[in-house]
Amino acid sequence: MSNYEFTNNWFQGTTKPVWDAIFPQLNPRKLLEVGSFEGAATTYIVETVGALANVELHAIDTWIGGIEHMEQGLDMSLVEKRFLYNIELARNSIDNRLDLHIHKGTSDFFLSKLFAMGLGEYFDFIYVDGSHQAPDVLTDAVLSPTFDNHPMKAQVMTILVSGFGHYS
Ligand SMILES: C[S@@+](CC[C@H](N)C(=O)[O-])C[C@H]1O[C@@H](n2cnc3c(N)ncnc32)[C@H](O)[C@@H]1O
Repeated sequence: MSNYEFTNNWFQGTTKPVWDAIFPQLNPRKLLEVGSFEGAATTYIVETVGALANVELHAIDTWIGGIEHMEQGLDMSLVEKRFLYNIELARNSIDNRLDLHIHKGTSDFFLSKLFAMGLGEYFDFIYVDGSHQAPDVLTDAVLSPTFDNHPMKAQVMTILVSGFGHYS
């Protein structure tokens, strides 16, 4: 087990069991993540996919935090440093190549930009866990399906939207 620096178990407790079940079926290679935080999901992707093949991963995050993080007074610059540290640990743990694209900014901007770059039907796995404000979640969900080009998309929805979304 790597010496990752995580300050919570959000991913381990909820998302990981689902991904353990579906990753072997989906076999994704080109992935997009909205909301990376300290990289818990990101490092899982690098380790799991990278153990089998080269992996291309796009990570979108403001590293400003959502409203809930601001209310907690989290130092998001430290969160971002932990992300960069953790991702390098993960990169060094695999033999295959990691093609990592870090998009620092809001998801509405970068999802639109990726689409404008011609990546409209490019990714085969998209994980949305960015802002949990309802209008933002809706925007991410609406923009993301344009990227879904996985052959199993008829059977399995590969766009996973985490968080129910709420107004405050
Ligand atoms: C719940 S955390 C993500 C947790 C992460 N998926 C994990 O597995 O540990 C939400 C992240 O979304 C980012 N975020 C919030 N609003 C955003 C927005 N509009 N665009 C991009 N990222 C955003 C925050 O900075 C934060 O790092």
